[in-house]
Amino acid sequence: MILLVNGPNLNLLGEREPHVYGATTLPEIETMVKEACAAYGVEVKAIQSNYEGALIDFLQEHRHDAQGVIANLGALTHTSYALHDCFKSLHCPVVEVHISNVQAREEWRQKSVVAPATRGQIAGLGPTGYYFAAVWLCGQIPAAAEGIESIEVSPGEIPIEGEPLPPPRPGPGEYE
Ligand code: DQA
Repeated sequence: MILLVNGPNLNLLGEREPHVYGATTLPEIETMVKEACAAYGVEVKAIQSNYEGALIDFLQEHRHDAQGVIANLGALTHTSYALHDCFKSLHCPVVEVHISNVQAREEWRQKSVVAPATRGQIAGLGPTGYYFAAVWLCGQIPAAAEGIESIEVSPGEIPIEGEPLPPPRPGPGEYE
């Protein structure tokens, strides 16, 4: 199971600063991630909360089943040592996603206090970043990566906002 975790204000995607975050809504992103993972036979459990503790409770609750975490913690990215510690307590990879290029924005956004507790980050690629995180995490789950035949997808077919998704392309399994 992959956990999809979205923090404060991400419920407002689509109407919140569309010049920064685009027009895609959170339900659309959740559907995209669920469909991408379903192609690997991997289930997704999603949460969005404006409360730090609710996100921590959710991660703790599913810590034994989680095979990967996709996390956009919103502004908690820049402040939450509690979520940093929570990520550290998990036994699966966490991929940090940001819709906007946080490195090109205000100075306070350029620092992620959770980043050292993640496997890696994807920022600035819009909602497609969630898709890449999902495909990468599925590729780390040996059963999921083996269960699918290799399908050729050229980079030109990578989805952009609102476009249909290409079929998955597993990477070599290295899930621990
Ligand atoms: C964000 C970037 C954060 O700095 C901001 O607080 C958000 C969204 C992003 O997806 O670009 O809420 O995580």
